[in-house]
Amino acid sequence: MKPAIIKIGGSTISQLPSTFYRDIGELYETRQVVVVHGGGPAINESLAKQQIKPDFHQGLRVTSSAVMKVVEEVLAGSLNKALVRHFSDQNVKAAGISGQDGQLLKARILNEKLGLVGDVKEVNPSVIHALLNAGFIPVIAPVGLGEHGEALNINADHAAVHIAKSLGGDLIFATDVPGVMKHNHVLTHLSHDEAKDLIKDGTISGGMIPKVEAALHAVQSGIEQTFILNGFETGVITAYQHNRSTGTTFSKKVVQS
Ligand SMILES: Nc1ncnc2c1ncn2[C@@H]1O[C@H](COP(=O)(O)OP(=O)(O)OP(=O)(O)O)[C@@H](O)[C@H]1O
Ligand SMILES: [Mg+2]
Repeated sequence: MKPAIIKIGGSTISQLPSTFYRDIGELYETRQVVVVHGGGPAINESLAKQQIKPDFHQGLRVTSSAVMKVVEEVLAGSLNKALVRHFSDQNVKAAGISGQDGQLLKARILNEKLGLVGDVKEVNPSVIHALLNAGFIPVIAPVGLGEHGEALNINADHAAVHIAKSLGGDLIFATDVPGVMKHNHVLTHLSHDEAKDLIKDGTISGGMIPKVEAALHAVQSGIEQTFILNGFETGVITAYQHNRSTGTTFSKKVVQS
């Protein structure tokens, strides 16, 4: 069975129900599972303590070297380990790494204006396979390795799609909203053209922009199924496991129509 790559939004981590982690453990009994996580709110909280104001451009964090230090401490440090503990509490074996381990995510500066934001250029999934073969769910913090050996901040949605591409699995974005919304309704399916229009007219904004772009990229790269769904919804992972996914679905058929 195809692996499932589950991106857990930083927006959800502190409030996800324990069943979410338990259900991922159950999913892992039937297929390989890889977790990628974000860390937006926790990073903002740490930045606030240092009187650094968060700055975003099209949903991507402008990352100076001072910001990068905080991103790495929080994302690859406290938050990554907190997630591993959540799995551990449910007796699910998980091991936390960053995109620097085993040169998993090699990246280049995306745009000088954004500072130390990385664009993934190469994925070396051997560290993922090593963990999976040893029975651990890899829990990946999206800090990449730059061309000069520097740490780069990679948007977690972008990192997840690159990892899903390299493993050939389904991609699930678990976030803090029930899917892509328009006028307070969830769009159950989203085509490429519609998504672009909704970004243009501002219906899709902030952190939903890189997520939808990552989903479109996933479909264009041949990933069969991509979902944006609500991590807070009870049973959402089990529903996916039984082909009853909720939220917004992106699939080749719809995107090409
Ligand atoms: N059309 C839209 N439908 C749904 N959410 C939207 C839309 N436009 C903007 N958003 C915002 O996008 C947010 C989700 O993206 P966000 O980046 O904040 O979360 P995340 O990716 O799950 O977390 P993190 O970036 O920390 O990993 C929602 O909470 C919502 O405020
Ligand atoms: Mg986000």
